[in-house]
Amino acid sequence: MSLFQQLFELFGRPEWSLIEAHQASTHLSIGLLLGAVGFDAAALLFSPKRAIWREAAFWMQLAGFGLLLVTFGLGYFGNPFAGKQSELAQKTEWHKNFGLVTLGVFGLLCAWRVARFRKWGRIEGSVFAFVNAFGLAAITLTGWMGGHIYD
Ligand code: HEM
Repeated sequence: MSLFQQLFELFGRPEWSLIEAHQASTHLSIGLLLGAVGFDAAALLFSPKRAIWREAAFWMQLAGFGLLLVTFGLGYFGNPFAGKQSELAQKTEWHKNFGLVTLGVFGLLCAWRVARFRKWGRIEGSVFAFVNAFGLAAITLTGWMGGHIYD
């Protein structure tokens, strides 16, 4: 066994199921999507560097949405309760449905950002922030449900 392999398996052979990858990837997507809101807010507050903050928010939102799609896929295909009839399966179904709403809202926001980036003024930017708040509410509820499936 090579030294690298010995180090890698020092704490046991790593085993990853899809649902564990789902649990891991969701945190980064949530962080990026929340971060984009923070950078948008900074763009409003610090006008001399507005374009830079906006640019960062743009890429964070796109990366966050890409990872959200991956997260959804990992949850969907790794769902340990798929095809079962139980309370846990029912809770996961609700979690999945809220996940779909979350995907829809952030999908719309991403398309809007890509189509209108560098063109929007204060009013459109404010409407965007308002819809973004719905996205944040949806992802918060979805994540909370995911974390409480076993309660
Ligand atoms: C955009 C969509 C989704 C988001 C943001 C999301 C988010 C989360 C979060 C934050 C957790 C808790 C992670 C933790 O405890 O560390 C979780 C757990 C879970 N999610 Fe999702 N999820 C999504 C979609 C889905 C889908 C589509 C399914 C399956 C149909 C699913 C199934 C599960 C299950 C079974 C758990 C519990 C895993 C465990 O504790 O062993 N999720 N999810």
